[in-house]
Amino acid sequence: MSIMGTRPAPCQESIQSAMLGSLHRNVVGLAQLSPIRSAITNSKVTKPLVDKFVAGDSAADAVRLTLALQEKRIHVALDLLGEDVETEAEATRAADEYQEVIDLAHAQGVDSPYISVKLTALGLSLGEGVATRNLRRILSHAGGAFVRVDMESSRHTESTVNVVLDLHQEFPELGTVLQSCLFRTDRDIETMIDAGVPIRLVKGAYVEPAEVAYQSKAEVVRAYRRQMARMINSELPLAIATHDENLIATAKKHIRESKRNNDTVEFQLLLGLREDLRDALVEEGYHMRVYIPFGSQWYPYLVRRLAERPANLALVARNILPRRGR
Ligand code: FDA
Repeated sequence: MSIMGTRPAPCQESIQSAMLGSLHRNVVGLAQLSPIRSAITNSKVTKPLVDKFVAGDSAADAVRLTLALQEKRIHVALDLLGEDVETEAEATRAADEYQEVIDLAHAQGVDSPYISVKLTALGLSLGEGVATRNLRRILSHAGGAFVRVDMESSRHTESTVNVVLDLHQEFPELGTVLQSCLFRTDRDIETMIDAGVPIRLVKGAYVEPAEVAYQSKAEVVRAYRRQMARMINSELPLAIATHDENLIATAKKHIRESKRNNDTVEFQLLLGLREDLRDALVEEGYHMRVYIPFGSQWYPYLVRRLAERPANLALVARNILPRRGR
């Protein structure tokens, strides 16, 4: 539906899609400027948004929420916020903190703990070897917990795929994420199916150049539909991670028509978004997992969420831009 409440004509739809793409690009770029960063960080509307999207500052906050959701048959993926670290010491600390989170989850009775990690938090920018070493440490300590490697910008896709394929041979409880927006994803899906690496399929949250990625929302949705169908028809464990109701409806239809065991496919949503949809899917008997970020390094995560949704952005912009006549 358009903003006016009527369905746009196809060419209107592609213009809107292109405008949203360019808005997304500009927002993410502007948010890196330090005066904007400081204005967003200090704005009075930021705290409620952070509270909506982030479980709290500590692992204890995240585990407390996990246990409450578990009561409602909702599983979680725990994500310690932080990315793009520049020193080995920071990368080592992130791996230590992940081990502490896993220990806490086991100790507090979380069913089958599950964490999401970013390789740039584990030192990927310092080399694949550093990230591999830290990820191996987490995996060796996992004690049955599932570890999902998030996918970051396309600068890191090749390295992420390499690190995951390498470690998956030793640690089957390791999965990763593929982004429908990237041209390479159909090929990566076949590689992961051959290697048996569990996949979470997402649209992609990073601003990507036209050389490597679809630029319009319509093309990304088309790719997602195709890739999701391919994966449902395979035997690979699959997480369908989207809030897009049309895609979810298509997924449900494919799952019903496929010979898939329902335990090997789940829906995933982000904390703070579409709780109505979350509860409805649980009620229908689907496996549901919510992605729970926690920690103090929330800024890049918040910017990605703001950029996805013009309404969120407008709220912040209204509060950080200077007002005339005051
Ligand atoms: P889309 O953006 O089309 O939105 C559909 C509907 O969802 C909207 O109409 C609105 O109702 C709601 N919605 C979506 N985003 C919103 C927001 N920010 N604020 C308010 N409402 C919103 N990306 C990535 O590149 N690497 C990764 O590892 C991951 N991991 C990941 C895990 C999980 C569990 C999820 C759900 C998503 C990711 N993503 C990700 C993010 C993903 O790539 C994508 O950016 C977001 O999911 C938004 O796209 P959707 O497909 O949800 O739909």
